[in-house]
Amino acid sequence: MTISYFFQPLMPFQSIAHRGASALAPENTLASFEKAIELGFDYIELDVRLSKDKQLVVIHDANVLRTTDGEGLIEDLTVKELKKLDAGSWFSPAFAGEKIPLLNEVLKEVSGKTGIIIEMKSPENQPGMTEILADMLNSYKPDNQIKVQSFHINEIKKFHQLAPEIPAGLLLSKHLDLFHLASYRDFASFLSVHHLLLSKSFINQAELFGYEIYSWTISKQYQFADMQRLGVHGIISDDEKRIPDSIIYV
Ligand code: G3P
Ligand code: CA
Repeated sequence: MTISYFFQPLMPFQSIAHRGASALAPENTLASFEKAIELGFDYIELDVRLSKDKQLVVIHDANVLRTTDGEGLIEDLTVKELKKLDAGSWFSPAFAGEKIPLLNEVLKEVSGKTGIIIEMKSPENQPGMTEILADMLNSYKPDNQIKVQSFHINEIKKFHQLAPEIPAGLLLSKHLDLFHLASYRDFASFLSVHHLLLSKSFINQAELFGYEIYSWTISKQYQFADMQRLGVHGIISDDEKRIPDSIIYV
């Protein structure tokens, strides 16, 4: 007799705060990462881009318009210019003066407190990003878990070659066939998959190849239960206020 989907057990998973605790503090700032630590998340997820002077800065969009009081593309602004911007007031006056952090500032701040999943944003359009990130992480001896992910397959492949000890993963927004599932395993150890693409059979296949599966981006209570029943290894969550009390953490 098959057990109905509804009665399948809720599985434990790694909790991953999307852009930090981004429902409670401005995304991708030290305030959002500190809040995620306070809430007990296993990981923070963050996005990196290269500034004009080739430093890794933590911001999601290609320009500063949505999340600061400035304007312009990250690639056209130096760190000195980026640091003048207010990255908190757009979210709430309570966060006025919050700054765009550099990746190395975040590494220092969260060291030993939570894991980090770093997403390289459009590395194929930002020459040097993958190499700079690999160099930084190779020389950094963290006492917390650090992973790197991207939608861009060739850049993740390159990152794995440059920094083989840092777990690398692919972000997926479309279905992956068995052939590619097998071949990507040479350089990727985890897959971050849009939740609507996930099925029990896909997770079973991916597990046979030894992948960990994370789902993004989850904010509703029923979605948490769905992901737990499917047995994903990690849930990237947008709205920590909606995490149900019944969630079982690893
Ligand atoms: O980790 C998954 C998620 O971060 C990808 O989407 O646009 O929020 O970077 P985005
Ligand atoms: Ca991201």
